[in-house]
Amino acid sequence: MSGFSNYYNKGVYTLPAARAWADKISLADGYIIVTPEYNHGYPAVLKNALDYVYAEWNNKPVGFVSYGGVGGARSIEQLREVVIELKMIPVRTSVNIVAFWNLLDETGNLKTESLEKSATDMIDQILWYTNLLKQNRENNQS
Ligand SMILES: Cc1cc2nc3c(=O)[nH]c(=O)nc-3n(C[C@H](O)[C@H](O)[C@H](O)COP(=O)(O)O)c2cc1C
Repeated sequence: MSGFSNYYNKGVYTLPAARAWADKISLADGYIIVTPEYNHGYPAVLKNALDYVYAEWNNKPVGFVSYGGVGGARSIEQLREVVIELKMIPVRTSVNIVAFWNLLDETGNLKTESLEKSATDMIDQILWYTNLLKQNRENNQS
């Protein structure tokens, strides 16, 4: 577990790769995580990426885009539990992209309206929390 952040070495990373990843994450005030779904879960590499950082995720919103045979919604439900432990705010609306043939209308055109609506709602929710939480983080910095 060397190099991982946790409650006890908050913000201190021993591995250069972990430091670089933390620096990248610290640049943003909100996030969109894109994930596939394999066997009803999200990929292990994504869990690893989340686990390596702690303080830099704290008190920031996150939205989810998932894809898979049935849209990957189960990946997102599992991720919601994980990001709460990272003190993140998962927004309600997500974008679930099903296999493209389910998005074709009777003439073969791609129907994206519902995805666009979900994406717009999700981004609005992320921005709402981003503004609120960024201000609060800045006010609480010493
Ligand atoms: C081993 C395996 C398991 C999968 N399990 C699911 C699943 O549980 N739910 C789902 O919606 N899609 C499932 N899929 C479909 C993948 O989510 C889909 O192929 C997706 O495009 C994979 O993402 P990638 O192309 O980025 O690897 C599975 C695919 C594979 C290969």
